[in-house]
Amino acid sequence: MISVTEALLGRRSTRAFLDRPVAMEVVRDIIETARRAPSGGNLQPWKLAAMTGEDLKRLKASVRESFARNPKGEGPEYPIYPNPLKETYDERRRKCGEDMYAAIGIGRENKQGRLQQFVRNYDFFGAPVGMILAMDRTMGSAQWTDAGIFLQSVLLLAQERGLATCPQAAWAVVHKTVRAHLAWPDELAVICGISLGYADPAHPINAAVMDRAPFDDVAQLRGFTAASAQTLSSLAGQPA
Ligand SMILES: Cc1cc2nc3c(=O)[nH]c(=O)nc-3n(C[C@H](O)[C@H](O)[C@H](O)COP(=O)(O)O)c2cc1C
Repeated sequence: MISVTEALLGRRSTRAFLDRPVAMEVVRDIIETARRAPSGGNLQPWKLAAMTGEDLKRLKASVRESFARNPKGEGPEYPIYPNPLKETYDERRRKCGEDMYAAIGIGRENKQGRLQQFVRNYDFFGAPVGMILAMDRTMGSAQWTDAGIFLQSVLLLAQERGLATCPQAAWAVVHKTVRAHLAWPDELAVICGISLGYADPAHPINAAVMDRAPFDDVAQLRGFTAASAQTLSSLAGQPA
């Protein structure tokens, strides 16, 4: 079994999957375990639906119909990015897109190619399992943190089982169709979709590795000394 570190470092947003089913027991086990994620006040505000087979096909067909009626989507459930996005973050977002499209040879000017790739979101990138994560819309920022912790738990547990994933805020754009398909009440806000399956190792889009901002841009270490770090690492090797 891989370590948490290995799962974290090995996970990638995967956008091409093999045509290989995932057993219900495995999906159930991932969700059962992710339920142990912490949440403020133990609210456990998340709701998750996992679909495969005919049920998933029906959702995808409903989404295609929705886009045919309204190509702009159903209006996002929540602002997916702040508008305007501050420069630092806007640069990161652009680079993410550039790196992804470069991996499949789609240039900046190829708007049609970019759109076609974006639309693959609504096919769950060919994954055999599509999941939808939602939360009661009365919940606030603190509970969005909880949902994020739950989401990452699902992603890492899948990684541990040799599965690949892609979290997809794109699914929030078709929230009405998703709710209708799942017979969910309006009070549930669709946070994102999650593709789940076995990664296609041969597909170039899966070769894109997104970089990260430097450590010092996102974190600070204060009051530590090299000596105390050394003491800790030598203690780690001692029997309890
Ligand atoms: C909440 C959330 C929503 C995301 N939405 C999408 C999406 O709609 N479509 C997509 O292709 N990737 C989506 N991503 C994947 C990000 O682009 C990806 O996590 C980021 O570029 C870092 O790459 P990595 O996950 O491969 O490390 C989303 C990720 C998160 C956490």
